Amino acid sequence: MVGAVQYLRVPVNNVLHPRGASGWIVGGETTDGACSFHGALAFFIRSGFLVMRDEREMTMTATVLIVGADPLNRNCADWEAILQNQGYEVIAARGGEIALAICPHLQPDLVLLNDLLPDIHGFEICRRLKADPRNRLTPVVLLKASGDSSDVSRGFEAGADDFWEHAPTPGEALGRVHSLLQLKTYIDEQAESVIFSLAHSIETQDPGGGGHCSRVSNYAVRFGKSLDLSQDDLDALKIGGLIHDIGKIGVPNTILSKPGPLDSEEIKIVEQHPILGEQICAPLKSLRHVLPIIRHHHERMDGSGYPDGLQGEHIPLTVRILQIVDICDALTSDRSYRKGLSLSRALIVLFEEADRGWLDEGLVSQFASLVVGSENSVALGNRGRPQPSDVAKNGVGAIRSV
Ligand SMILES: [Fe+2]
Repeated sequence: MVGAVQYLRVPVNNVLHPRGASGWIVGGETTDGACSFHGALAFFIRSGFLVMRDEREMTMTATVLIVGADPLNRNCADWEAILQNQGYEVIAARGGEIALAICPHLQPDLVLLNDLLPDIHGFEICRRLKADPRNRLTPVVLLKASGDSSDVSRGFEAGADDFWEHAPTPGEALGRVHSLLQLKTYIDEQAESVIFSLAHSIETQDPGGGGHCSRVSNYAVRFGKSLDLSQDDLDALKIGGLIHDIGKIGVPNTILSKPGPLDSEEIKIVEQHPILGEQICAPLKSLRHVLPIIRHHHERMDGSGYPDGLQGEHIPLTVRILQIVDICDALTSDRSYRKGLSLSRALIVLFEEADRGWLDEGLVSQFASLVVGSENSVALGNRGRPQPSDVAKNGVGAIRSV
């Protein structure tokens, strides 16, 4: 299972209260925006926002977000305790605004949403949560202690997955929670399977791209290991290598396989694929650490890339690593419009792209050392660059054999 390192950015009034040995209460001047967090959370205040780095190892433990001060006519802390005793990770948000702020980043496995909140009505929160791709697959249970029957249809219209009109017993509620979480797990597994199948299908349709993603995945992990990256980052590289181009599902095959350069309209279409790929994968919590790789794998160090024009180290390290491996494999592979280059020639192109300000030069040097070290066949020159005389001596395939 992929380990979790996530950042939550939540508006608060800079008041932190320790909550025993394992959690914290974060609150402001009123209780409206109060939110409690359990688990090993490190956080700091920046520009009026609470920034939390969650270093918990992500296991199969489900995360439940309770929104509302008094769901199910019970004390909120009781429900936290009941669910925690079942092994769930529980986060309680007292108000709607703070729930909307943390939910897209937290991607809880279940939201228990009280409709009577101090700031926003539960129906509206449900609607806004479901409108965000990152929470689209998250089951939301609306809790309403009293009210007319028309609220049930309004709740389902807002996107709620279940509507509890009357407070169930703890045993009944836990049964419903277990069922919803089982269904969520099943849906996630099916969706993930579809995404990997789609990625494989796209790859096989590319005349010159067969096996490209698998090679990129394998070699990106190997490169990452040589840089002593964490297991989280290695997992992201492994999955990112396989599905980083999933957004190409939205690019017509006539463009993907077009021999020769693309025109400006075709380029615009191609440049949408990282955004579409992110949208496809965003609902899956298990893929959230891969999203930066999917969205940013065409950024350039000088900011001239797409879709966001990120510069330098604003481009995540895993992205810069995958870019180099991705480009190298593409260069050494046969395409419809050219034959694959030799590894030595590909490394020269990578250094040229670093000189232009597109790739991370330090990483290109380390990559070249890794490749050459493994092959022991290309002499390195100044700053780890292949000598021109080596270009003619070495064939295609060194990187593809890994
Ligand atoms: Fe791409």
